Amino acid sequence: MIDTKNLTRKFGNLTAVDNVTLHVEKGEVFGFLGPNGAGKTTTVRMLCCLIGKTSGEAKIGDYTIDNENDCLKIRKMVGFLPENVGLYDSLSAYRNLDFYGQLYEVPENKRRENIERLLTLLGIWERREDAVGTFSKGTKQKIAIARALIHDPQVLFLDEPTANLDPEAAKTVRDFILELKKEKRTIFLNTHNLDEAERLCDRIAILKTKLIAVDSPKNLERSLYNRKTIVHLDNVSSLVVAAVQKLNAVKNLRTSDNKLILNIDDPEKDNPEVVRVIVQAGGNIQYVTELRSTLEDVYLKLIREASAQ
Ligand SMILES: Nc1ncnc2c1ncn2[C@@H]1O[C@H](COP(=O)(O)OP(=O)(O)OP(=O)(O)O)[C@@H](O)[C@H]1O
Ligand SMILES: [Mg+2]
Repeated sequence: MIDTKNLTRKFGNLTAVDNVTLHVEKGEVFGFLGPNGAGKTTTVRMLCCLIGKTSGEAKIGDYTIDNENDCLKIRKMVGFLPENVGLYDSLSAYRNLDFYGQLYEVPENKRRENIERLLTLLGIWERREDAVGTFSKGTKQKIAIARALIHDPQVLFLDEPTANLDPEAAKTVRDFILELKKEKRTIFLNTHNLDEAERLCDRIAILKTKLIAVDSPKNLERSLYNRKTIVHLDNVSSLVVAAVQKLNAVKNLRTSDNKLILNIDDPEKDNPEVVRVIVQAGGNIQYVTELRSTLEDVYLKLIREASAQ
């Protein structure tokens, strides 16, 4: 649904986005992470046809971002929640959404239906007639999210949708994103919130001007330590260690207190055998876990490595 090839944007001498090549599937929630100034917003603005590219290519569906006619189609196809919400303070929530719906040429009855559905889902339908200027930051953010969806876009670009929201408002927005995912919309999510990225995203890209990594949250977390299985026993006997060491699947074995720490390439396949062998050798297993790094560990390592280059 979203394809870029060597997408690059310079501002004078500064390269903000450098040769970014990525592919986002239809219906995917795709997280875009990276430090301040990494080029996330610039990428999204190019993809929404709000600014031009310097070089490279990008397509949304079948439309290319550097063709004027295609850009008109792209604007109808995508919804964009910008970093700054930019609503009309003196207009009511309803009027703000109705106004943007008109700009997108959404027919009146469809506008009414969409506004009611979106504001209800976001819990602000009761306040639809209040002027936006009287709302808190979180409520304004929710209205801006509704605005991004007023024309039923297939692709949604959300630039830090939960920044500055209290935990409850952030949860409403996250739950809302999951609802949109159920509707098979493609969601491109810029965020600094690693926990949010992990919970919502099918895949995550890490950007620092250049693309550093793209993978599922799970694979990124595993990438730091490979895959390690930890077996907690009431006691690690030499019999147990000897039995486990004999297994071909176990590439490395370490003990620590009452734990066995095992490198196993394919734990889903080989862990049952490991457990059987330990039990046969008289080991009392308390529990078996996987040692994983957090997304934060991986993110910080990748960003530091990129900075050192
Ligand atoms: N219109 C502009 N003119 C000049 N430089 C710009 C412009 N827009 C962005 N930049 C620069 O491009 C770089 C990337 O900015 P961008 O806003 O895309 O980063 P970001 O990843 O969205 O950061 P943040 O996490 O802080 O939102 C920054 O160095 C920024 O100063
Ligand atoms: Mg930004």
